[in-house]
Amino acid sequence: MGTVILGTGSCLPEKKLTNNDLAKMVETSDEWISSRTGIRERRIAGKGEQAYILAARAAEKALVKSGVRADQLDLIIVATISSHMLMPSCGCFVQQELGAAGAFAFDINAACSGFLYALDVADQYLQADNTKKILVIGAETLSSRVDWSDRNTCILFGDGAGAVVLGWDESDRGIVRSELFSDGNLWNLLYMHNARSSNKDLAVPDYPGAHIMMEGREVFKHAVKCMEEAMRKLLGREGLEMDEVKLVIPHQANVRILKKLIERLGVEDQAVFINVPKYGNTSAASVPIALDEAGRDGLLKSGEKLLLCSFGGGFTWGATLIRW
Ligand code: ACO
Repeated sequence: MGTVILGTGSCLPEKKLTNNDLAKMVETSDEWISSRTGIRERRIAGKGEQAYILAARAAEKALVKSGVRADQLDLIIVATISSHMLMPSCGCFVQQELGAAGAFAFDINAACSGFLYALDVADQYLQADNTKKILVIGAETLSSRVDWSDRNTCILFGDGAGAVVLGWDESDRGIVRSELFSDGNLWNLLYMHNARSSNKDLAVPDYPGAHIMMEGREVFKHAVKCMEEAMRKLLGREGLEMDEVKLVIPHQANVRILKKLIERLGVEDQAVFINVPKYGNTSAASVPIALDEAGRDGLLKSGEKLLLCSFGGGFTWGATLIRW
């Protein structure tokens, strides 16, 4: 008895940016990007494809699969760090786009961990009132936020959205538990400024623009360690072993991080879902996009145990156990 995922959906922009395309923009190569990250191409939003548009298209598919109508939704939560406006929230734009008049909507900023945070918040709402129907989305247009002249970061990110519709089920399926963490002490290893302050007393000296800034090697080390620890802690609390989990769907940051995770967890390669070579790092959207794709690939079977995990700016990280 608990919160269940009634349907999933995703939306990726049509436009592709390959490593060879990037090599024409900055000093890099397909060989360097592929060997260091495993990423081969990423999707880039086209004209008018704001984060809320990608979010709404992903949500429409999830609603169809779940058999829930937009006007039946009670709550919309969007995890994003790249909405086209700071106010209103991306969630309110999604509500308007879907015509979900009966819902209230808000955003969550937990960077790449945003979808797991949003899922847990929605789970708590459903624990309190199990009649609700909740839409949870991860949506990003990070192409609007990277510095396209910085080869350290611009090679990593892509655009997209993934969505799930949540409801309540009396069976033993559903979200078992989440373990979420953050450490604000490490904020300066991965961050993005806001727009320049109009109050000079609050202005950031040498403001570099509202771009993603990152200490790649430090992020790499923390990402592997934190995701492993979160999953082991969660499984420990449930008295489960790693080999009882059928599939891990991690945040898709890069293949080298995921290979290291596979090594440290001591699992087979196919136990960890990887699609980052096709889409790059879509931040809060990466887990729901991967979840939707894993479902369409026939990898999610009723009753099997599934682990989601993520890591991102903040730092924020966590894991969620689901009985599918
Ligand atoms: N093409 C060619 N050369 C490059 C590029 C590039 N795109 N980017 C950096 N280099 C150069 C550097 O300038 C450096 O040159 P130098 O030795 O002359 O100074 C050299 O390559 C090595 O640079 P490093 O940064 O040490 O390379 P590293 O092996 O650490 O790989 C990478 C960089 C891929 C960013 C790696 O650190 C990484 O994957 N980190 C994780 C970052 C991440 O995934 N962030 C996403 C957000 S957080 C998250 O989602 C988990």
